[in-house]
Amino acid sequence: MEIKVNSQSKLNWKGEALALGFFTRDTITLEGELADLDQRLDGVLSELIAETEFKGKPDTTLVARVGGKNPIRKVIITGLGKEEEVSVDTFRKAAASIARVANQARVKHLGICLPHPQYDDNTLAQVIAEGVILASHQDNRFKSEVQDRPVTLETVELLESNAKEEAIERAKIICDGVIFARELVNAPANVINPVTLAETVKSLAQQYGLQLTILEREDCERLGMGAFLGVAKASDLPPKFIHLVYKPETEAKRKLAFVGKGLTFDSGGLNLKGPGSSIETMKMDMGGAAAIFGAAKAIAQLKPPVEVHFISAVTENMISGRAMHPGDILTASNGKTIEVNNTDAEGRLTLADALVYADKLGVDAIVDLATLTGACIIALGNDIAGLWTKNEQLANELKTAAAAAGEKIWQMPLEEKYFEQMKSTIADMKNTGPRAGGSITAALFLQQFVKDTPWAHLDIAGPVWAEKPTSLYNEGGTGFGVRTLVNWVLNSQ
Ligand code: BES
Ligand code: MN
Ligand code: ZN
Repeated sequence: MEIKVNSQSKLNWKGEALALGFFTRDTITLEGELADLDQRLDGVLSELIAETEFKGKPDTTLVARVGGKNPIRKVIITGLGKEEEVSVDTFRKAAASIARVANQARVKHLGICLPHPQYDDNTLAQVIAEGVILASHQDNRFKSEVQDRPVTLETVELLESNAKEEAIERAKIICDGVIFARELVNAPANVINPVTLAETVKSLAQQYGLQLTILEREDCERLGMGAFLGVAKASDLPPKFIHLVYKPETEAKRKLAFVGKGLTFDSGGLNLKGPGSSIETMKMDMGGAAAIFGAAKAIAQLKPPVEVHFISAVTENMISGRAMHPGDILTASNGKTIEVNNTDAEGRLTLADALVYADKLGVDAIVDLATLTGACIIALGNDIAGLWTKNEQLANELKTAAAAAGEKIWQMPLEEKYFEQMKSTIADMKNTGPRAGGSITAALFLQQFVKDTPWAHLDIAGPVWAEKPTSLYNEGGTGFGVRTLVNWVLNSQ
């Protein structure tokens, strides 16, 4: 699919389908150029608006056929919502919705023209291109037959825009990272396992000339990563501790580390997941790792002057005669001891050693992303990630990056008093507290493994996986986190 910028007016554009956006109004009236356009299209636009009682509400996208010898064959109209509530994501979602309707209507050549008094052409072009690309992504890798709802779009033109080519290029690169993450999450545990994930990251490193260190089990033993290795014990597959580095050609303005939870499958271990615990979707428990490596793919192409480390302790949480037992005491690489009172709270164990490792790199900030707790989904629902940090500047930077990305995050309290509930009588701490405040105690557990580096934790258990499609993604992996991380790195220059 080719996406182009075209400064031409919608009045003169010739192509298969023209898409227009409208802010919410009680009655939509066509004025000025839109009235001219309507006239040229023999009133199809005003008829479509009247017949469907279109009021420009969000998530309303309609298509109509234009008759006769008109240079345009179809018009698509989409609702942008209330003008006073507009954000860049309004346009990303609108473009996604337009692209979906266009593909359903078998459109190959599409022109998009959205009113945008609030934003400059480059910002707008980037988010529109992101919307179109992300909405047109279908993961058909595991289907044996050709789909009956294929993506038909071949050429998309952004009309009345003077955006630079770079804006479209940036969108393509970011979406490349998002799609990489989606496909990693969608790949089942018999395809993406610790060995194949490490191989995938190795190809990524080779493709973009990134530094890569993969620590094998013995290396991790030497570093005393008892928490990570405890989780890895039952698997027939070897654990892989992945450390990928992007270094800019010029001096780094900032050094950052991303840590992603990398459970290629989470059975729960001997505290085996029961009915209703989503065991069948636990291939997505490497969504944090997918997000950081997706971000790596984009950052390696965007080449910002920031050094970024991408770290994941990758394994599966399985059951076998070698499995860690509930009650086992593990020693993490910072010397702290953990009584494993629940083997299903495994993510924090793998992250503990990954955070200790990241903390030693001397970076300016660490951000971890993890499908850590069902409790976070109970607290914030499926669409919003939880954010925990003591560092308000970091919190604000991440909130800004997430807002521009159209990814929802909500800051939660690091309520230190709750850590008392994690105290163990026999070891330094347990790995699980009571049900109440489960996502907070999980964050407090992670905090034990970071010394002085500014650190933030994102619990992405909800938004990494979609049971229902939206305009931007289908069911399955959403690629959540990639756009926020990339924006944050780009803003860190
Ligand atoms: N990977 C799960 C969390 C999860 C649950 C992610 C549902 C996505 C959807 C995590 O390892 C887990 O099992 N957490 C337990 C923790 C509990 C044992 C303290 C949970 O949330 O139930
Ligand atoms: Mn678990
Ligand atoms: Zn898990």
